[in-house]
Amino acid sequence: MTLWERWMAGGGCLLLWLLPTVLQAQPSREVTPRPLPCKQSLVLVSCRGLGLRTFPEKFARGVKQLDLSNNFIQNLTKSATFELGQLEHLDLSFNQLETVSKRALAHLTRLRSLFLGANHFDRHYLSNGRAFRSLVSLNILDLSANNLDSTMAAAYFSNLTSLEKLVLSGNKITQLPRGIFWAARQLKEINLSNNFIVEIEEGAFEALVGLQVINLAMNSLHCISGFSLTHLRILNLSYNALELFATEGREEQYELQVLDLSHNKLRYFPLFSKASRLTHLNLSDNAIASWASSPDTAAEVSSWYDGTAIFNLSLSNSITTAGMAAITNLDLSNNKLTLFPIDFLRNLSSLHNLRLATNCLHNLTLEPSTRVESSTDPDVETDEQGVTFLSVRSLDLQGNFIRSLPPWFFSVLPKLETVDLGSNSIQPCKRQNEGESDTGYHPAKRENCTAFCHVPQLKHLSLRRNNITALCDSMFYQTSLVSLDLSGNEGLSMPRGTLEGLESSLQKLSLRGNLMETSKTEFPCLKALKVLDLSENKLSLLPSGLACSPLENMNIQKNNLHVLEKATAVSWSRSLQSLSIADNPFSCCALSWLEVLEAANVSVLDLNKTLCSYQDKKRNFTAQLSQSPQWLCPQDARNGSMAVLLVVVIGFCFLGLCCAVYCHQTKDKKMPRYLGFLSNRVDPVSYPTNVKRMEQIAAECVSNV
Ligand SMILES: *[C@@H]1O[C@H](CO)[C@@H](O)[C@H](O)[C@H]1NC(C)=O
Ligand SMILES: *[C@@H]1O[C@H](CO)[C@@H](O)[C@H](O)[C@H]1NC(C)=O
Ligand SMILES: *[C@@H]1O[C@H](CO)[C@@H](O)[C@H](O)[C@H]1NC(C)=O
Ligand SMILES: *[C@@H]1O[C@H](CO)[C@@H](O)[C@H](O)[C@H]1NC(C)=O
Ligand SMILES: *[C@@H]1O[C@H](CO)[C@@H](O)[C@H](O)[C@H]1NC(C)=O
Ligand SMILES: *[C@@H]1O[C@H](CO)[C@@H](O)[C@H](O)[C@H]1NC(C)=O
Ligand SMILES: *[C@@H]1O[C@H](CO)[C@@H](O)[C@H](O)[C@H]1NC(C)=O
Ligand SMILES: *[C@@H]1O[C@H](CO)[C@@H](O)[C@H](O)[C@H]1NC(C)=O
Ligand SMILES: *[C@@H]1O[C@H](CO)[C@@H](O)[C@H](O)[C@H]1NC(C)=O
Ligand SMILES: *[C@@H]1O[C@H](CO)[C@@H](O)[C@H](O)[C@H]1NC(C)=O
Ligand SMILES: *[C@@H]1O[C@H](CO)[C@@H](O)[C@H](O)[C@H]1NC(C)=O
Ligand SMILES: *[C@@H]1O[C@H](CO)[C@@H](O)[C@H](O)[C@H]1NC(C)=O
Repeated sequence: MTLWERWMAGGGCLLLWLLPTVLQAQPSREVTPRPLPCKQSLVLVSCRGLGLRTFPEKFARGVKQLDLSNNFIQNLTKSATFELGQLEHLDLSFNQLETVSKRALAHLTRLRSLFLGANHFDRHYLSNGRAFRSLVSLNILDLSANNLDSTMAAAYFSNLTSLEKLVLSGNKITQLPRGIFWAARQLKEINLSNNFIVEIEEGAFEALVGLQVINLAMNSLHCISGFSLTHLRILNLSYNALELFATEGREEQYELQVLDLSHNKLRYFPLFSKASRLTHLNLSDNAIASWASSPDTAAEVSSWYDGTAIFNLSLSNSITTAGMAAITNLDLSNNKLTLFPIDFLRNLSSLHNLRLATNCLHNLTLEPSTRVESSTDPDVETDEQGVTFLSVRSLDLQGNFIRSLPPWFFSVLPKLETVDLGSNSIQPCKRQNEGESDTGYHPAKRENCTAFCHVPQLKHLSLRRNNITALCDSMFYQTSLVSLDLSGNEGLSMPRGTLEGLESSLQKLSLRGNLMETSKTEFPCLKALKVLDLSENKLSLLPSGLACSPLENMNIQKNNLHVLEKATAVSWSRSLQSLSIADNPFSCCALSWLEVLEAANVSVLDLNKTLCSYQDKKRNFTAQLSQSPQWLCPQDARNGSMAVLLVVVIGFCFLGLCCAVYCHQTKDKKMPRYLGFLSNRVDPVSYPTNVKRMEQIAAECVSNV
């Protein structure tokens, strides 16, 4: 029988191919469909998704990894696992498991990881749980999506003393009782995401001194206070209903580095212990309107918590940056902030990336309370004194209501490399004539516009969708931008001088969706430009300055281009790698540019979608560019002259022929076959397909002459 099994494993495939013919020949004989054999290598066996209903048997000895996921296995018995004593990794996720017999796991003494997600372990959890007690060397247990509550879940890890990672996501746990993880003292990581947890009892994680990662995302937690997990490194609390987050024991050293509080209902900044190592704080999608860390009045606190002020917070409008000194990444997008408090941010001395997208920032004045604390007036004149410097390198301010940046803005951000100002209402300033002012800008106009020159640190700027219509000469003077996004500013005009000063730095430029006209789009010679998006404009000619640029990727979709100049195509073919061209009114009869690009192996990404058209007095047609439609066009000049030549030759032939016939006739009265030919004469010009026959006749004719 073993031999038969082996043969099946090796040659079963062949048999299955032959099976349909056998069935047809003998329709009465009953054949039960056999599952395909598992993929097997020395220590690794995969029977994933083979429609198995029972645990397969007879594995080769020494199998270490077994994947039985995505089948229909219902139970696990001792006999099934008997030969798998070497097994280290077992994946039974996505099956129908509900019973594990008492000794089924007893001999899997080397098992390190067990994946049981998406089964029915809510059934028979007490007896199943007893079978799990012998898995004393198990490190990883995944019981996600098993419809477990906390009692059921606890039954499975009550004796798993070596467990390091536990995944319980996608169950129906509503609370975490004290001591639930008591047995699994080695736990480093717990994933409880996507449950219904509303309460975590004090001491739930007690004794887990090695715990580093907790994922509590997508639960129903309303507040976290008394947070005392000093060893924790990563805590994910996103998608809950948190209104408050505060760490207790505020003198202790906390190891927490990453805290995700996004998608909650926080109205104030979280409160941290002074001794904190937090580097990543995500507060996006909350309701934070002020930079304070606690509410103004006790009344407000009470109003949240039905009159029971359970937190002992210092009830003042305190802004505290304690515990934030190590933060490098702070995400405050999608909140309700109206102010940009320089003093607050200055204390975050490690901050590199700050996101304030989609808030209610109108202007970047200072918060009133910090203005009082500040010793100097935070206006223009103070920036030279070095009062306030922020360490921020990347700042996202898109989607606010900013009309202009204050003149001190770039001076207090001496390390700022990337700024996204998209979807605001910022207008660039006009440069003043020489000699009028040191900075070159008219002070009176500073209020309403923003100057972008003399900012040597700035590399990446987005002014996408700011309703900018006019750019001005040398507006980036002494600002060596590498990338610039001016897209979505409808009706933009860009005179030649605009990009002056960026000739050797600018590598990436987007002018997408600006409805720009050819006459209002001029480029200087940008010697470093590699990526250019000119799509969704009204260009009928590409700017001539582009021939200078070593372009690699280019988009000219949705313009008004009939033809590209061959010289331009030749110059691009040196560097261009990919090009998008669809939705232009290209002419089918002037496609030599495309041939040049194709010869240079430029990949035209949307060639299949690109159409061209041709129209004259007689006909109109539209064709796909990819189908080489040139043959539909009227014959070009060279073919025309060939036809004329042919007519002339044939004309001479007839003349010669007539002459010959006449001479012959004078000798011999009989009419030869030529007469029949003459009367059936065809017109070579209107029927060019007969050309070959004509040539034949012409040849005949010459020999006759
Ligand atoms: C295990 O499942 C198989 C098939 O579903 C069934 O025939 C067998 O009786 C079950 N054994 C136990 C011990 O539940
Ligand atoms: C529980 O674990 C301990 C060691 O961690 C082991 O000695 C004991 O046998 C286990 N209990 C059962 C029922 O297997
Ligand atoms: C936790 O579970 C969720 C949902 O199953 C999953 O997306 C996430 O990657 C898991 N995290 C870890 C660390 O395993
Ligand atoms: C937290 O969990 C959410 C939801 O699963 C996920 O989108 C997010 O990336 C996680 N955050 C971190 C810092 O891993
Ligand atoms: C913060 O969380 C939001 C939503 O989960 C996510 O889109 C964003 O990328 C996160 N921010 C950072 C800096 O990781
Ligand atoms: C609140 O904090 C103050 C000062 O830190 C302390 O004296 C007081 O006992 C605390 N109250 C409660 C209820 O913990
Ligand atoms: C900033 O830090 C200084 C000194 O560490 C402190 O006095 C000041 O209150 C802090 N400012 C804020 C807004 O937290
Ligand atoms: C700045 O914004 C605040 C609040 O939105 C407003 O009161 C103030 O007048 C604005 N200042 C300027 C100079 O526009
Ligand atoms: C600035 O804008 C306001 C209103 O938008 C306008 O009244 C004022 O004249 C402008 N100032 C300058 C200097 O253009
Ligand atoms: C853009 O500016 C024009 C006038 O300059 C104004 O009429 C229009 O409402 C503005 N559009 C938006 C979306 O702000
Ligand atoms: C273009 O269409 C042809 C056939 O219609 C197809 O074979 C080819 O893969 C398509 N190319 C792209 C880039 O979509
Ligand atoms: C060709 O198209 C043009 C414009 O679309 C139209 O005016 C003209 O009548 C068409 N000619 C023929 C022969 O269909």
